[in-house]
Amino acid sequence: MRSVTQIPVLENIPVLVRSPFNVPIANGAVANAFRLKEALPTIDYLTKHHARVILCSHIGRADTETLKPVYDALARYVPGLAFCPEAVGPAARKAARELSPGGVLLLENLRRYPGEKKNDPKFAAELAELADVFVQDTFDVLHREHAGVVGVPKLLPSYAGFLVEREVAELSKALTPASPSLAIISGAKFETKEPVLNKLITLYDTVFVGGAIANDFLKAKGYPVGKSLVSGTDAGHLKPLLENKRLTLAVDSLVAPAGGTRADARVAEIGDVKDGEAILDVGPKTSAMLADLVKRSKTVLWNGPLGNYENGFVDGTDALAEAIAGSGARSTIGGGDTVASIEKLGINDRFSFISTGGGAMLDFLAQGGVLPGLRALD
Ligand code: 3PG
Repeated sequence: MRSVTQIPVLENIPVLVRSPFNVPIANGAVANAFRLKEALPTIDYLTKHHARVILCSHIGRADTETLKPVYDALARYVPGLAFCPEAVGPAARKAARELSPGGVLLLENLRRYPGEKKNDPKFAAELAELADVFVQDTFDVLHREHAGVVGVPKLLPSYAGFLVEREVAELSKALTPASPSLAIISGAKFETKEPVLNKLITLYDTVFVGGAIANDFLKAKGYPVGKSLVSGTDAGHLKPLLENKRLTLAVDSLVAPAGGTRADARVAEIGDVKDGEAILDVGPKTSAMLADLVKRSKTVLWNGPLGNYENGFVDGTDALAEAIAGSGARSTIGGGDTVASIEKLGINDRFSFISTGGGAMLDFLAQGGVLPGLRALD
């Protein structure tokens, strides 16, 4: 993988940069600028070397979403930033041509074009046509075989930006954890977490499973889970992980009547969940157990909130964030809600590394450091 610093000539060269601009939007404005700020070092490097910088990204999943709010937020950091309401075609070509050396242009959301997700070679060619060089500077989407991830690098000399280089270096360290080591993986769908759990269980001394996937394990162990979210994976399938001594589950939970709020919740021992109740967070005993595990660990890896975070069940997640921040462990964390939790608590600078990736981080770890978007840069 070649680095952006290895691009031989940049003066007046049009450079297409895939940037990490899939950010949350609320009331028409960027709600969290973490990924935006992580994009700045590569943009600065290219503008300082007088390249003509063309930024592209996806945002959201609907083909109607726009990067205009990102433009408004990014313009505060990138003076003179221009915006093109198209990503390809005559308007995009004209905007790219009109860039002066050191100028920066943001193209509209790539996912407005069906060719992006289909990895249509025609769409990749239209994008590649805008520049002489491609820089991959978004990590979060490198697990997707999309045109702007794997298509464009086939057509242009391609390099990794600073963000991608750092993600690869830091997450690679998480693949060789110093013992005692603790991995915490939490989330909603077992199928999406199974590969990473299978990998981490071979690398980490303790693997704590939280969130809805933990409900599958509790159910498989014969505990009542009431109306809790489960992914329906059969118990036989879970058996090898369940029998592994390294796998750890909650010892108590916060439960509430299905559809209930945090105010309706009560603490329940595992095994004491009533028919109409749902497990929505870990309980205080589990938080204390995790804090103790963290304290005794040299390496901690964490992805995914422990509770139903978006509906106010934040206690377990916040307590874990504080425990890790206060420990001396080398800590690597990732995932949208996990990062939102530590940002809300204002403790970002107390983690060794915060990944911009969610699914991409898990896939990178599951596959031992390989992703389609990285292979494309090779
Ligand atoms: C992310 O935020 O995880 C990435 O930007 C990928 O987005 P996607 O899951 O919509 O492909």
